[in-house]
Amino acid sequence: MSAGRRGAFFVFEGCDRSGKTTQSRLLAEFFKSKGIPTLSMIFPERESSIGQVINSYLTNSKDLPDEVIHLMFAANRWEYMNKIQKELLAGTTLIVDRYSYSGVAYTVAKGLDYDWCYAPERGLIKPDAVFYLNTAPDNLSSRGKYGEERYEKLEFQHKVAEVYNRICERESSYWHEIDASQPVAELHTRISGIAEKLQQQVKGKPLDKLK
Ligand code: TMP
Repeated sequence: MSAGRRGAFFVFEGCDRSGKTTQSRLLAEFFKSKGIPTLSMIFPERESSIGQVINSYLTNSKDLPDEVIHLMFAANRWEYMNKIQKELLAGTTLIVDRYSYSGVAYTVAKGLDYDWCYAPERGLIKPDAVFYLNTAPDNLSSRGKYGEERYEKLEFQHKVAEVYNRICERESSYWHEIDASQPVAELHTRISGIAEKLQQQVKGKPLDKLK
């Protein structure tokens, strides 16, 4: 894959209620305020037919085997890959709330094999940076609406956090671990500082794939 002046690809990861959505929004507003073409996306993308099945699963109105829902989350990313590639190559900076690492973290936390979980993610476009909002899940359960969706249970979130920490070590070259217990404005200052530099640096770089 080669590119002229492409956009940057940023991903937010973390346990449920870690503040990803707020920080994604603030980062998108930051780039837009500088006149940089920016698009926000959220995975799972619940609008597609696959996304609707995922939504039924997450809201507990449908049950599926762990392997099946795992592959559906991955398929949901693959169905948006052409769009992601097109937008990045057209110069749009993408800010994505959850990506392949959520897929791996949540399914490995259920006890499935790491390599099996990662396999369907290979070949997807690799982000330029992942902002990992990390804090003890105990600090998160008091946040609004916690517990409404399938995975919002403290014990499970602890397991998810353990897998995220492993991924963070493995992928340290482009993962940025951020202490999510800091005030929103401080988090944003730190994240936007890193993102702004990268957005300039990656302009002439080809897109990479998850290997
Ligand atoms: P959300 O609460 O950030 O919208 O995410 C929905 C839930 O889906 C969240 O508990 C994490 C989970 N998830 C997976 O299990 N696998 C995935 O690939 C993704 C993107 C999310």
